Amino acid sequence: MSKVIVVTGTASGLGKATVERFAAEGWGVVATVRKDADLKVHDGLENVRTSLLDVDDESAAESFAQEALKQFGRVDALVNNAGSYQMGPVEATSMAQVHRQFQTNVFGLIALTRAFLPLLREQRSGVVVNVSSLSAEQGYPYNAVYSASKAAVATFSEGLSMEVEEFGVRVRTVLPGQHATAIFSKIDQAADVPEDYRDGMKRFFGGVSTQGSAPEVTAEVVYQAVLDPRPGQVRFYSGPDSAAIPTAKRILGPQQYWEEFREAMAGRPSALWRSLIPAPGEYAFDRDV
Ligand SMILES: NC(=O)c1ccc[n+]([C@@H]2O[C@H](COP(=O)([O-])OP(=O)(O)OC[C@H]3O[C@@H](n4cnc5c(N)ncnc54)[C@H](OP(=O)(O)O)[C@@H]3O)[C@@H](O)[C@H]2O)c1
Repeated sequence: MSKVIVVTGTASGLGKATVERFAAEGWGVVATVRKDADLKVHDGLENVRTSLLDVDDESAAESFAQEALKQFGRVDALVNNAGSYQMGPVEATSMAQVHRQFQTNVFGLIALTRAFLPLLREQRSGVVVNVSSLSAEQGYPYNAVYSASKAAVATFSEGLSMEVEEFGVRVRTVLPGQHATAIFSKIDQAADVPEDYRDGMKRFFGGVSTQGSAPEVTAEVVYQAVLDPRPGQVRFYSGPDSAAIPTAKRILGPQQYWEEFREAMAGRPSALWRSLIPAPGEYAFDRDV
C-alpha cells in the first residue's frame, strides 16, 4: 500500500506545491484547507482527500487525527505547513496580534503534532515536518514576533526529535527562504505605527527583495526531508537565501555574521554579505506594506 501524508494549509503556496509533489510520487495525501471555497483546490489530483481544518482550533486536533487516519487507513507523515505572517514594529503590534501569530504558527502546530504522536509512536515509524523560516536563524526587524514564532517551531522540532527518535519517529524542520506566495498579500500588520519608526522601516523595506523562490523549491525539500533516513538531521533549508545561511555562519562566525546581518537589514549590505547570501529567487510578488 502506498504511503500517506497529511499536509496542513494547502490552499496555496508551499502547502499546495507539497500536496502536488507527494501526489505525483503516488502517495495518498490528506490535505487541509480552512475555507469551504478551497475544498476543490486539489480536484483532479489522484489520491488527495481535502478536509477543513483551522489549526487555531486546538480542540479539533485529536478528532482530525482520527479522521485523517480513516481516509486511507494509515498515516506515515505529517507536514505542519499552515502559517500566517504578522509584521510591523513590536510597539505597534497589539497583544491580540501576538497571540494570533503564536496560536497559528506555534500552538496550533504543537497541538496537531501531539494529536498524531500516539499513532506514530505506536506504529514505530513516521515523520513530522514542521515548516519554520529562515527568520528562525536570526530575528528580523519589524518581523520580531513572526521570527520568534518560527524560532519556536525550529527549536520545538529539535527537542521533539530526540524524544521520539527511539520510537522510529523522525522530526524535521524546514526553513524556507523568501518564496513568492500569497502570504505577503495577507499580512496581519501593526496599526498606528509611531512616526519615529518610519525612517528605520524605510531603510529596511528599501533593502528587502520582493522576489522569491517558486513554492516547488520548498516542496522538493519537504519531500527529501521526509525520505531522509537520518534521525539526527533536523534542519533542512530551502531556497538559495536560506540554504546559504549555515555556510555564511561557519565562514563568518556568530559575531561577524550578526554584524553583517545588522548592516544588511539597515539597507547597507557589504560586498562580503552579498557574496555569501544570494538573492531569494526570480519570481516577483506583491507585498501589502
Ligand atoms: N512565503 C515565504 O516567503 C515563506 C518563508 C518562510 C516560511 N514560510 C512559511 O511557509 C508556510 C506556508 O506559507 P506560504 O508562503 O505558502 O503562504 P500561503 O500561500 O498563504 O499559505 C499558507 C497556508 O496556511 C493556511 N493557514 C493560515 N492560517 C491558518 C489556520 N489558522 N488554519 C489553517 N490554515 C491556515 C492558509 O490558508 P488561507 O489560504 O485560508 O489563508 C494557506 O493555505 C507558512 O508556515 C509560512 O510561515 C513562508
